[in-house]
Amino acid sequence: MPSTLKHLRSRFERALDAAFGESVAGTDPAIAPTNNPKFGDYQCNVAMSLTKVLKNNPRAIATAILEHLDIGDLCEPPEIAGPGFINLRLKPEYLESRLSANLGDPRLGIPPTPHPDRAIVDFSSPNIAKEMHVGHLRSTIIGDCIARILEFEGHDVLRLNHVGDWGTQFGMLITYLREKYPEALTKADALDLGDLVEFYRQAKKRFDEDDDFKQASRQQVVRLQSGDPDSRRAWELLCEQSRREFQHIYDRLDIELTERGESFYNPMLPDVVADLERSGLLVEDQGAKCVFLEGFTNKEGEPLPLIVQKSNGGYNYATTDLAAVRHRIEKEGANRLIYVTDAGQANHFAQVWQVARRVGWIPEEIDVVHVPFGLVKGEDGKKLKTRSGETVRLRDLLDEAVKRAKDDLETRLREEGRSESPEFVDRVASVVGIDAVKYADLSQNRTSDYIFSYDKMLSLQGNTAPYMLYAYVRIQGISRKGNIDYGQLGGEAKIHLKDETEFVLAKHLLQLNEAIDGVAEELLPNRLCQYLFELSQKFNQFYDRCPVLKAEEPDRTSRLALCHLTAETLKLGLSLLGLSVLDRM
Ligand code: ARG
Repeated sequence: MPSTLKHLRSRFERALDAAFGESVAGTDPAIAPTNNPKFGDYQCNVAMSLTKVLKNNPRAIATAILEHLDIGDLCEPPEIAGPGFINLRLKPEYLESRLSANLGDPRLGIPPTPHPDRAIVDFSSPNIAKEMHVGHLRSTIIGDCIARILEFEGHDVLRLNHVGDWGTQFGMLITYLREKYPEALTKADALDLGDLVEFYRQAKKRFDEDDDFKQASRQQVVRLQSGDPDSRRAWELLCEQSRREFQHIYDRLDIELTERGESFYNPMLPDVVADLERSGLLVEDQGAKCVFLEGFTNKEGEPLPLIVQKSNGGYNYATTDLAAVRHRIEKEGANRLIYVTDAGQANHFAQVWQVARRVGWIPEEIDVVHVPFGLVKGEDGKKLKTRSGETVRLRDLLDEAVKRAKDDLETRLREEGRSESPEFVDRVASVVGIDAVKYADLSQNRTSDYIFSYDKMLSLQGNTAPYMLYAYVRIQGISRKGNIDYGQLGGEAKIHLKDETEFVLAKHLLQLNEAIDGVAEELLPNRLCQYLFELSQKFNQFYDRCPVLKAEEPDRTSRLALCHLTAETLKLGLSLLGLSVLDRM
């Protein structure tokens, strides 16, 4: 069934049409959940915005809407408040029947979209031979969450890893390794990413200091790009070695991605330039081929060029993205393109898409968006570093989170006098540690910088993964204690609401749909985190107030059903964030 909000919206649309006809066609009824229960559950504010069009006062407009509104199955009789707000309070029967219908439904009553998009989410996208850093971690976690939400909604999603696997870094690296460590270019397992990163650093240093080396590196790039088999083989081996390390991170984070790096688009680059030339947009400027951008100027106020081919014939990051956007629309049939990178790349994408639009590669109806995010900072507010001042390796960061989760757990077990198997401890520590890292990132508004703090993310209090996991565990504990199989509650269990905390919980449970829609539209995962956090709080309030196992029938079954729905909602919501749950912790 559509969400309550959608239901209300369509009823109001009908009423608006019946009351005012053509003159208000296409008006959004402006319905939103209230933030104060005094005003009911939802509020419709449309009357205020129609005064000009209808040349009437808002209260009279609201009254006319109500005369045509058929909403008795959903709400108590609506009330007009203040200048012309229409306050809506959901009927208990509506809440009860919708919730009862969701029992046993793995989608919790949320239907897949009738209009699936072909969506591409470009995320993670680290660079070969360079370490995957915390920025890539953010992209990975946020991009995966967005992909999961769109998949759940029934869209056809392609998750692309646009790895930086092409370009000048390989010239230096291959030249350097050929001299110092030739095995790395012929044997598959000779290096791990740590070595590779170090070699890259040294190669770069040589490149900057030694002219002969610089020359050799440039020739090496040309050989690679012209398909020389030895260079190609060396390149493949280097990519393979980076890939192993990336995969290790993806496995730990439970991330699925299709690798389609920059090299994939390499054969398409000459056509990009040729077609731009044909379109008349291309200008030659000091030997470089470029397109002058609209609305982008340099310090002197002159129009800024987007260079698509350098004077030496080489192509740029932007050329590859032009080829990619075109390929994704023309060959992959995507109508929604989402790019998840740090905010620093906003201009890059704006420029590439402007050119692609002007040349006709992005038709009007295609939605192309950049999903930017802020920096990850240490607790000192500066760039995240290790104690010795180096960049933090992702592998170490995840290990540290799991280790701390394990220490916390062992302390708690000791305090509670519990003894658990080493397997249990390891499993709980790993889920809590990884969930905590993901949740800490997702629960922030992604556009702001975020402070990375193990202590905060692992705390059992506040808007954290452990708090959420604990609420889930608490509910599983109720079923264990009462020997209840929630799965068996099924169709017979009828929910009937009595206590105020039950109503609050019930209404919140029915808003999952709206929370998910919100994330899919605005691409802000923190909305779902906030929803789940409030759900846990509302559940705890209910559980503190209402006996469950000790209640008399029919309250007992109804409350067990509420517990079960809360657990299922938490589990589904957390899974859309990419988090696992635990039955005990
Ligand atoms: N490799 C790039 C980086 O590390 C991110 C690529 C993002 N995707 C894209 N299509 N440009 O910054």
